[in-house]
Amino acid sequence: MSEHQKRALVTGGAGLIGSHIVDLLLREGWTVRILDNLEPQTHKNGKPAWVNPAAEFRQGEVQDYETMRTALQDIDVVFHEAAYGGYMPEMAKYVLVNSFGTAQMLEIIRDHNLPVKKVVVASSQAVYSEGAAKCPEHGHVVPLLRPAEQLRAGDFSVHCPVCGRATQSIPTPEATPGGGETVYALTKVDQERLVLLWGKQTGIPTVALRYSCTYGPRQSLFNPYTGVIAIFCTRLLTGQQPVMYEDGGQTRDLCFVEDIARANLLVATTDKLDGLPVNVGSGRATSVRDLANVIAAQLGVEIQPLARGEFRPGEIRSLISDISRIRTIGYEPQTTIEQGIARYIDWIRTQGPVEDYFGKAEAGLRAKGIVQSVKG
Ligand SMILES: NC(=O)c1ccc[n+]([C@@H]2O[C@H](COP(=O)([O-])OP(=O)(O)OC[C@H]3O[C@@H](n4cnc5c(N)ncnc54)[C@H](O)[C@@H]3O)[C@@H](O)[C@H]2O)c1
Ligand SMILES: [Zn+2]
Repeated sequence: MSEHQKRALVTGGAGLIGSHIVDLLLREGWTVRILDNLEPQTHKNGKPAWVNPAAEFRQGEVQDYETMRTALQDIDVVFHEAAYGGYMPEMAKYVLVNSFGTAQMLEIIRDHNLPVKKVVVASSQAVYSEGAAKCPEHGHVVPLLRPAEQLRAGDFSVHCPVCGRATQSIPTPEATPGGGETVYALTKVDQERLVLLWGKQTGIPTVALRYSCTYGPRQSLFNPYTGVIAIFCTRLLTGQQPVMYEDGGQTRDLCFVEDIARANLLVATTDKLDGLPVNVGSGRATSVRDLANVIAAQLGVEIQPLARGEFRPGEIRSLISDISRIRTIGYEPQTTIEQGIARYIDWIRTQGPVEDYFGKAEAGLRAKGIVQSVKG
């Protein structure tokens, strides 16, 4: 990318991933504008102290036409991170912020002939549902999301779509058929398809980054609906057992936020992956139970995680990203889970008293059916 193409708009730039992209771009000499509405569920105390003062900050909604039109002025690269997320029951708000907001942003760029040279959109590995798996008989298969009935009966395994036998999870490459089976995931599919399709129509380079579970300093401690690491940390810091759904054997691909930010810079500064969906993650599996134990060990507390026979319909059992594609442009995850958790805990300790928002939200999660119990 040439010297003058260095003005970025980072939507959601006050959030976990956006703010780390902002810091990295500024370090690399870019001019950066942030558009963020400071969503109250995430930013309980208003504008966070970590919003880099060297960036231009604008508070506003991505789905507001005029706000977006003015935010896009004189921008070379858009990093579109703002999204409505989490395990919330709303449907219309996801579609408004994520799907509609993205579609309108793309229209604005085209209709006003804005000189945007690249759009990088934050997608998610949630687009894969259960991802790729291996059946002892049928080899490589793409299982369906586990039916709530099966989970209610206490069977948490992922079955082969052909023969019904239990499968083993394998790293999921980008070519795996997806679709999204939660409202959040559906809108992530919308966002990446809209961006990549628009890129083909307009000839403007685009990349959709499918992030795995991202964690690190600045991850909201206030939002009880997202982020297993944040929730486990606040539980343990308030002397309570982390609550695991299912049997705690679910595995996640946990990626430190600075690795995710670097992936954004890498795809923005090469044309090699233009027009593609691209996985970004650690490429490794960590079980929820191991995670609880790593966090407890880092905190120096002896509190065991608790499995109470609960599950969340729609939850993925094990999804690990195959990161071969992004490795071709020099990406390599640099932070181990132990290092990353230590960095996150150091940060939490600078954030004042910690409260257990999860405990307060629990009854509501159950009343809304977001969390259910195994029968018997
Ligand atoms: N954190 C993860 O594990 C993860 C995984 C996969 C994909 N993603 C995606 O990465 C992106 C960033 O996620 P994050 O983890 O940094 O979340 P975050 O909640 O920390 O940050 C999102 C930011 O967007 C802002 N925002 C929300 N709605 C907005 C609106 N209508 N207008 C303007 N700003 C708005 C919020 O105030 C917040 O600062 C999202 O698109 C998310 O879907 C995150
Ligand atoms: Zn089979």
